Amino acid sequence: MKNAFFLCRSFLTIFFLFQGFFMAWSQEKLTIDLGKKGPSINPHMWGLFFEDINFAADGGLYAEMIKNNSFEFPSPFMGWRRIQENGAMGYHYTKIYDKDEANKRYLQLQRLNNEGQFGMSNEGFRGMAVKAGENYRLTFMARPARGSSLSVQAQIMGKDRKTLAQGTVSIQNSGWQEYELMLKAGNTEDKIHFRILLQGEGELDLDLISLFPENTWKGRKRGLRKDLVELLADMKPGFLRFPGGCIVEGFDLETRYQWKKTIGEMHERSTLINRWNIEFMHRNAPDYFQSFGIGFFEYFLLAKDLGAEPLPILSCGLACQFNSGEMAHLHDMDEYVQDALDLIEFANGATDSFWGAKRAEMGHPEPFNLKYLGVGNENWGPQFIERYDIFEKALKAAYPEVILVSTSGPFPDGHEFDYLWKELTARDAELIDEHYYKPPQWFKDNARRYDQYDRKGPKVFAGEYAAHSTLENDPLKKNNWEAALSEAAFMTGLERNADVVRLASYAPLFAHVDGWQWSPDLIWFDNLKAYATPNYYVQKLFANHPGTHILNITHNAQSIAGENGLYASSSFDEKTGELIFKIVNTNADSRPLEIEWKGRSKNNAAGTLYQLASDDLRVHHSLEKPDLIAIKESPVQAKGKKLALSIPGNSVNVFRITL
Ligand code: AHR
Repeated sequence: MKNAFFLCRSFLTIFFLFQGFFMAWSQEKLTIDLGKKGPSINPHMWGLFFEDINFAADGGLYAEMIKNNSFEFPSPFMGWRRIQENGAMGYHYTKIYDKDEANKRYLQLQRLNNEGQFGMSNEGFRGMAVKAGENYRLTFMARPARGSSLSVQAQIMGKDRKTLAQGTVSIQNSGWQEYELMLKAGNTEDKIHFRILLQGEGELDLDLISLFPENTWKGRKRGLRKDLVELLADMKPGFLRFPGGCIVEGFDLETRYQWKKTIGEMHERSTLINRWNIEFMHRNAPDYFQSFGIGFFEYFLLAKDLGAEPLPILSCGLACQFNSGEMAHLHDMDEYVQDALDLIEFANGATDSFWGAKRAEMGHPEPFNLKYLGVGNENWGPQFIERYDIFEKALKAAYPEVILVSTSGPFPDGHEFDYLWKELTARDAELIDEHYYKPPQWFKDNARRYDQYDRKGPKVFAGEYAAHSTLENDPLKKNNWEAALSEAAFMTGLERNADVVRLASYAPLFAHVDGWQWSPDLIWFDNLKAYATPNYYVQKLFANHPGTHILNITHNAQSIAGENGLYASSSFDEKTGELIFKIVNTNADSRPLEIEWKGRSKNNAAGTLYQLASDDLRVHHSLEKPDLIAIKESPVQAKGKKLALSIPGNSVNVFRITL
């Protein structure tokens, strides 16, 4: 009797266990409806947000190795050290040009004897680095002020005062002239410095002392860091937003970003303090300025190189409201509006227009095809709306085809957010920029955020977002898998709502490991190397596999946005005839899933799975360990029109099935 009872109980236990298993299995059966092709996905949806924060431009993407290379910082010798060694005698001055120039100062070296070494050394951007066998191009402007037979010796110096490369140029007895010298590095070394020495007794004026790797992106002279642009190119970004962020607005109106001061020859671009120089007391960067070596022309060119739509953002006449909040009077908005009108002409105008001619002079007669323009960054209140109205009226009258980006302020909800959405909706605004820097849980909880947005209202530009890890306090570990996974979960919601969310970009993009102000960031680097974060690989997965139209992927006829820890989106690629679906499993354990597609398609289709996965939510990358999380590619094979597989815990999965 007792035995029969135990037998019966064991049988029941096994029965319920199996039933539980099969119930779970059937619960996690996902269906894709091929018959109902949804709205189109903007082919440029997933893009890049670039801001000169964290030494992203000077000291980062812009490959210039010499800091303060034209002595324009308020402290003119910042970054430089005077050299007077082994009996050398003389003076080092900075002088102001007679004419009022954007580039105001130059260096004068007065050498009184011929002993020892006399000149200047430059520390670079938290050091500098060279690679063995590579060439480095030195250029500088020089004018002998007194003496004949002067020459300049240039040296790249290793950590232990070993010369890694050197060369000499003799100076002609004439006015200002540009000189060039190629230096070949013997070793690979980081944290090194550069010396420029005057040989011969006399006086020499020097300016715009530049050192660049010859091997820049596309081999351009005074170009961009190749390794960093390559990471951007691999993402196949749909757009490039520039130049930020808060940097657009400035600490006050005087320090706002003014694109006209960033084009032309380098001596025509005036150096400006970088607002991140002083923004965070705990991350002060007194040596952070904008040389504008990357200015608006270079941003447009970069966007073109990347096959991305250029998306410039301009000041709306309101300085950062977290700082001074200074505003241009409503009667004084002409200058701001004119800047916007002129920018469109600079980008798209014919070569016989004033600004179109400037573009052509800089080497790009073809238009850049600007389609989007942002007015203001994180501005808020009636002060923004009043100014936006002025811009909108003028810009739409002149260029109705250019899509205007407005802002919903710095936060994704609350009074200001609601106010701006209401006002902008009343104005039929086209694209509203939303920002969210939130904990990972927020991203998971908000995967349905856009399900409820009015389909007839303004479209959304998810212009700045990043999950800020709660597992880690160390800023260099915040780009971990916890954050990246939650972003992926959220991004399925963006993709499912791609009819409302037309553009999206993670922010910020770049950070120098020794010069950052803000963390987390998508790509980190030092002067020698760079690494992509797990967050980067999530962005890359979405940007590389967008599809052209939304398809419904459902579980029990409901979209999949967090129930059972699963998130999913699906699309069809009309160009390739592929079904694409993305499944994010935020559970620690793996989930058996059956995915079935219904509608006209062949049976037993083959495809590819692109997967990111890790058991460890804290895993992050570093310069030493740059690839702990990487996209793994494997073949998948449908049975009929179904795919049955086990989705690993904490994973992001993109399937492409050739129908
Ligand atoms: O991405 C960093 C900053 O965050 C941006 O400059 C600003 O727009 C936001 O507050």
